[in-house]
Amino acid sequence: MTHTCVLIPGDGIGPEVADATKRVLEASGAPLEWVSRPAGVAALDQGHDAVLPQTTVDAILEHGLALKGPCTTPVGGGFSSVNVALRKTLQLYGAVRPVRSLDGVETRYQDVDLVVIRENTEGLYAGIENEITEGVVSSLKVATQNACDRISRFAFEFARQSGRKKVTVLHKANIMKLSDGMFLKAAQAMHESYQDIVLEERIIDAGCMQIVQGPENFDILLCENLYGDVMSDLCAGLVGGLGVTPGANYGADNAVFEAVHGSAPDIAGKGVANPLALLMSGVMMLNHLHRTRNDETCGRCAESIRDAYNLALREGAMTGDLGGSLGTEAFADAVIARLGGGR
Ligand code: NAI
Repeated sequence: MTHTCVLIPGDGIGPEVADATKRVLEASGAPLEWVSRPAGVAALDQGHDAVLPQTTVDAILEHGLALKGPCTTPVGGGFSSVNVALRKTLQLYGAVRPVRSLDGVETRYQDVDLVVIRENTEGLYAGIENEITEGVVSSLKVATQNACDRISRFAFEFARQSGRKKVTVLHKANIMKLSDGMFLKAAQAMHESYQDIVLEERIIDAGCMQIVQGPENFDILLCENLYGDVMSDLCAGLVGGLGVTPGANYGADNAVFEAVHGSAPDIAGKGVANPLALLMSGVMMLNHLHRTRNDETCGRCAESIRDAYNLALREGAMTGDLGGSLGTEAFADAVIARLGGGR
């Protein structure tokens, strides 16, 4: 069985980390075939007239699977986020971002093991903004019952399937009584059907403080779109940063795997970016193939890559963001050399 995966290298550090990730996945023997498609600035550079070409969307719809590098979004003007457009167009409503301490990576915390689950299609991220009059603008926060219900069900199902015990909803329903109120109430109502999982709730500002003070007290963090965005980076900071935080965006029929980090223009083109977050996203993709298409080879390859990068980190083979001295390619080589226990 071979799986066709749409590879979207993205821009900035995207092509560098995508190439390194692809090399490791191939070296593991993962049964993948690649179809490369552009998005964002790369799409414009290649002569497409849209940052999200229809051919890219169609390829994901056809194969149901993509591994995506980051895409730059201009600040305060210019085109809208390709990443948001992709998630909305394909209704990839559930983002899963595991955050774990790694042996060999020194941080202020040990034994962090969290998962951020982010609603991916609405909230302030809907990007509905207008200028009411000169000097007055508004940005609309959207919440729908359907989206709140489905992300709640998704979070509880994820908890069950991954053997996790607790979901904490982070909200600001004391102020945004309607939108965050709907999000919170949806989680509470859904919890009726998932009594084996503990549901907790925190007002997000106090929740942030408590997560920084004691991440071990949390398990799954359920967030609407913007809170999930911010919380993902906050949690990344607990375990070594954006270089080690992977992610997956799931819809009913399609899944797009991408790291939490962006295109990192400050280090793009220098060959120093950490490819591990995207590689970990690739491991999530292999586990997804194992789970949904019953392909045990994918499961074995996922395990072998995970063992290899854990060994590399324990032995001090790491990129500059983690305090090491390896570049992007050298780190990928270090992982490849340790596949199968370094045979
Ligand atoms: P960023 O995540 O690109 O970078 C933040 C900091 O982390 C930078 O100092 C960067 O060098 C470092 N960093 C990020 N990834 C790294 C890696 N793999 N290895 C080593 N260091 C790494 O966030 P920033 O600078 O706020 O955004 C840059 C651009 O990326 C923006 O245009 C933003 O819209 C876009 N972006 C795209 C995302 C996506 O495609 N899913 C997600 C987040 C941001």
